[in-house]
Amino acid sequence: MKILLFGKNGQVGWELQRSLAPLGDVLALDRHSTEFCGDLAQPDRLAQSVRAYQPDVIVNAAAHTAVDKAESEPELARTLNAWAPAALAQVAAEVGACLVHYSTDYVFNGEGDRPWQEDDATGPLSVYGQTKRAGEQAIVASGCRHLIFRTSWVYAARGGNFAKTMLRLAAERERLTVIDDQWGAPTGADLIADVTAIALRRLQQEIDLSGLYHLVAGGETSWHGYARHVIAQARHIQPEMTLAVRDIAAVPTSAFPTPAKRPLNSRLNTRKLQQAFGVVLPPWQQGVDRMLAEIL
Ligand SMILES: NC(=O)c1ccc[n+]([C@@H]2O[C@H](COP(=O)([O-])OP(=O)(O)OC[C@H]3O[C@@H](n4cnc5c(N)ncnc54)[C@H](OP(=O)(O)O)[C@@H]3O)[C@@H](O)[C@H]2O)c1
Repeated sequence: MKILLFGKNGQVGWELQRSLAPLGDVLALDRHSTEFCGDLAQPDRLAQSVRAYQPDVIVNAAAHTAVDKAESEPELARTLNAWAPAALAQVAAEVGACLVHYSTDYVFNGEGDRPWQEDDATGPLSVYGQTKRAGEQAIVASGCRHLIFRTSWVYAARGGNFAKTMLRLAAERERLTVIDDQWGAPTGADLIADVTAIALRRLQQEIDLSGLYHLVAGGETSWHGYARHVIAQARHIQPEMTLAVRDIAAVPTSAFPTPAKRPLNSRLNTRKLQQAFGVVLPPWQQGVDRMLAEIL
C-alpha cells in the first residue's frame, strides 16, 4: 500500500508516521517538503503531489489548528481547513485513492449534555469550527472513499500540551483556576493514529465502512477535572516533585474570554466507530497517565 501523509510533524501526524509504517510505504510531507508539495496553503499543488505519487491512501493530518488565531485570519483558515481537503478529496476520487481526514468536536454548538452522534446537526461557534465543517462537507460531496475522524482535546507527549502547562503553573503558583463547564475527552494522538491504522486495514476489505466517525478516548471530564487528575497523577508518579499548588479552583468559561467561542458540550459518542471497526477506546485517564509517565 502506498500512503501519502500530509502534516507529518503535528501531534497526530507524528504518531501516524509510526502507526502507518507497518501498512506499507509512507511518504510523509510537511509544508516545507520540496520534491512533493505538502503545503495546504497551495491546494492545486497538493493535488499535483497526489497525481505524481499515485498513492492508495492519502492521510491529511495537517490543519489550521490555532482556534483563536483563526478568528482574525479566516481566509487562511478556510484555505487550510476547507479548500485543501476539498482539493485532496477531488484528486482522491480521480486517482481512486482513499482519503483519511480529521475533524473536530468544534463543528457542534455545544448545547446540552448528550454525547454528539455523527449525524446530529452541526452548528459551529467559531471560524475554526466552520472551516473544519466545510472541509468535512467537501470530502463527503466529492464521492471519494474516505474516513473522517472527529476527535477532541488532542494531546501528545511531544510538544506543548495542556498537562505540561498545568504542571508548569502548578510548580509556580499556589492557586490555579481552570474551566469547569466545558466537557469532553482528552484524546492521545497515539490512540488516534493507532485506530486510524486499524480502520484503514479494515476499509481495504470492506469498502462500505467509508464514512465519518467520532474517535475520542472513553469517559468524560472537564478541563478542571483533567487538571486535577494531572496534578494528582504527577504527585503519585514523582512524590519528590515540588509542586506549589494547594488549590485548583473551578471557574466558568466566562472567566477566560477568548476570541473564539468554544462549545461547552464536546462529548462525542463513539459507538459507530467501535461497532464498525471492532475497536476499544480506553478511558481517557489511561492515555494521560501514560503520557505523564513519559514526560515526567
Ligand atoms: N489539537 C486538538 O485538540 C484537536 C481537536 C480536535 C480535532 N483536531 C484535528 O486533528 C487534526 C490533527 O491535529 P493536531 O492536534 O495533530 O494538530 P497540530 O499538532 O497543530 O498539527 C497541525 C499540523 O498542521 C501543519 N500545518 C499548518 N499549516 C500548514 C500548511 N500550510 N501546510 C502544511 N501543514 C500545515 C502544522 O505544521 P507546522 O508545525 O509547520 O505549523 C502542524 O504540523 C487536525 O485536523 C485538527 O483539526 C485537533
